[in-house]
Amino acid sequence: MNLAFFASHGGSNMQAVLDACSAGNLTAKPVLLISNNRKCLAIERAVTEALPIRVINRVTHPDPDERDAAMLHELLEHHAELIVLAGYMKHLGPRVIARYRNRILNIHPALLPKFGGQGMYGAFVHQAVIAAKETITGVTVHLVDEEYDHGQILAQTEVPVFPEDDAASLSARVLQREHTFLVEVLSGIVSGQIRLPAAP
Ligand code: GRF
Repeated sequence: MNLAFFASHGGSNMQAVLDACSAGNLTAKPVLLISNNRKCLAIERAVTEALPIRVINRVTHPDPDERDAAMLHELLEHHAELIVLAGYMKHLGPRVIARYRNRILNIHPALLPKFGGQGMYGAFVHQAVIAAKETITGVTVHLVDEEYDHGQILAQTEVPVFPEDDAASLSARVLQREHTFLVEVLSGIVSGQIRLPAAP
C-alpha cells in the first residue's frame, strides 16, 4: 500500500508510520509528503528519510483549483493509494477529495464527534476536553470528506484525563497514543481487518 502524507507542522505521526514501515511492522510504502509549510519539522523528517517532498501552498499555486490539481498530479505521479493527513492544517480541494474518496484518513486528538470541527485543533482540543471536565479523551482515525472532522469514523481509542492535567500534559499523553494507534489502524487496513468503503 503506497502511502502519501500531508503535514503542516511537527510530523511526529508521519514519523511513527515511517518508523513502523522501516522496522517491518507495517507493510506499506511511504511515497510522498505534501506540505503547505516549507519550514516545518515534517519536511526535515522527510529529508532524513529520503521521502519525496512537495511544497504546495498559496505562494506556489495562488489559484485554489490549480493548487488542488497540482496536489492530485503529485499523488497520482507517486502512485499514492492511501493518504494520511497527519497534522495538515488546510482543507483539501475537491479534485483530491473526489479522486481519493474513502482513501483519505485523518487523525484527530479526541473522541469525535465531540471536540471536533473548525477551530478544534492543537491545544484548543485539549483545553476544551479539560474545560468539559471529561475524564476520558482519546484518538480518532476517520475518513476525510468535505467537512472538517466529519467523515466516517474508522477507529477510536481512549486515553485517560487526570485531574491535574493541563492542555500540555494531556496533549503529550494523547500524542504518544496517536503514534501507536495510527500504525495499528493502518495495519488493520492493510490486513483487511478494517475495511474501507469502496474507492472511486
Ligand atoms: C496530532 O495531534 C493530530 O491528531 C492532529 O495534529 C497533530 C499532529 O501532530 N491532527 P504531528 O504533526 O504528527 O506531530
